[in-house]
Amino acid sequence: MKKESIVNPKYKSKDRSLLYKYYAGFSDQFVLDTLGYSDLNKMTVLDPWNGSGTTTRVASQLGAKKIVGLDINPVMIIISAAGLLNHVGFNKIKLSETNRLTKNNIKNDPLGLWFTDTSIKNIRNVELEVREEVIGNSDFNKQNYLAKQSGTFNLIVSNKLLAFYYLVFFETVKKLTYQFKSSNPTWIKVSKNEDEKIKVSRREFEKLFLKELDNKESILRHTPEKKTQQIVLDTADSRKLPLDDNSIDVVITSPPYCTRIDYAIATRIELAFLGINEKDDFNNLRKNMIGTTKITADSKALFSKYSPTAKVFMKTVYEHPSKASKSYYYKQFLQYFNGIIESISEISRVSKKNAKVIIVVQDTYYKNVYLDIEKIFEEIFNRFDWQVYMKEDFIKNQTMVSLNNKIKNYREMSKPRESVLIFERMKNNGSK
Ligand SMILES: C[S@@+](CC[C@H](N)C(=O)[O-])C[C@H]1O[C@@H](n2cnc3c(N)ncnc32)[C@H](O)[C@@H]1O
Repeated sequence: MKKESIVNPKYKSKDRSLLYKYYAGFSDQFVLDTLGYSDLNKMTVLDPWNGSGTTTRVASQLGAKKIVGLDINPVMIIISAAGLLNHVGFNKIKLSETNRLTKNNIKNDPLGLWFTDTSIKNIRNVELEVREEVIGNSDFNKQNYLAKQSGTFNLIVSNKLLAFYYLVFFETVKKLTYQFKSSNPTWIKVSKNEDEKIKVSRREFEKLFLKELDNKESILRHTPEKKTQQIVLDTADSRKLPLDDNSIDVVITSPPYCTRIDYAIATRIELAFLGINEKDDFNNLRKNMIGTTKITADSKALFSKYSPTAKVFMKTVYEHPSKASKSYYYKQFLQYFNGIIESISEISRVSKKNAKVIIVVQDTYYKNVYLDIEKIFEEIFNRFDWQVYMKEDFIKNQTMVSLNNKIKNYREMSKPRESVLIFERMKNNGSK
């Protein structure tokens, strides 16, 4: 279907119909409009950077044949699963104050960064009760009650009602830790000592949890019906998609931006709720995120082959006189571009010959150097035999980037530009 114009993808943070606010998300309306193919019921839709699940939710409302939503962050996968629940599937459980854990069972719980052990025991007892009520499984290990274990995590993702309850847990715990929020929404502080830790009784926690549950239930009541049955949601790295060759008809997505935003930190509390501890799992997740501010192993530069614009940009960063340009920032951009190239290679592999890719990207600056992400994506896609058949730019008024003082000056001179690019495969196997 050829379109006349493209709807602005801008995420509407004030949209009250959203179950979960994800600053990195795009709007429902954008997905509704761009996926409005008459034969979507014959198509498989993929979002390899599914985030809060806008793609999976909206594609399911539209009745796509099959939908695949992947993200490296397990929190986002649970949130996406919750978004697929229909109101008819909602069931309010009764809490009976059963206590499965004592304070002695609470050791090294990642919530300990913000809560006292007694409070953690109270929170976890509600969690375990909900888990048992929804899936009827009382078989858990007191030493290992955390949801991150793959068995439990998979149970949550495959049970939309349980995922919905986890979304409510995330929100309740986030509200309780409000005092640790900082002005930058992707950064959350931790308690410096025991006195700063939050104390919450089981009764108080239950009350807050049930209030949040009612709140989310009323949003759910007004959401459109989700129709698609065949939906795959999973944690996966976009550089290694767990999908067959030639299996996807449409990709609609927005990649991790190159704006030094740490997506893992933004969900630090939710990750802790799942049991992801700060030292090992959390750092691994951070390292594997595209756009991470952590430098991993030195890698071979792929950008020179794939994008002339990236090549010029990288040379400018390398030669930039400002501190750490060569020793740190150059390496960080290199990692970013490598990750994007490897992901686009994977997207190309799994896409059918007549597939389409719809992608939203945002430009940025390094110091005074403009980074034309739109152009770079277009060049990389070209190298994989895709050609743009539609694109549109949208100017944003505000961005997370403007919170970073170091680049504020340049960014303020021009407002951030979000671009939508729609690709189809080159007809005559373009150059590679
Ligand atoms: C811009 S957000 C996508 C937002 C989404 N369109 C929405 O509406 O919520 C990019 C996502 O990419 C994910 N991500 C980062 N590195 C990844 C990787 N290596 N593999 C898969 N997902 C990754 C992040 O967790 C983040 O949720």
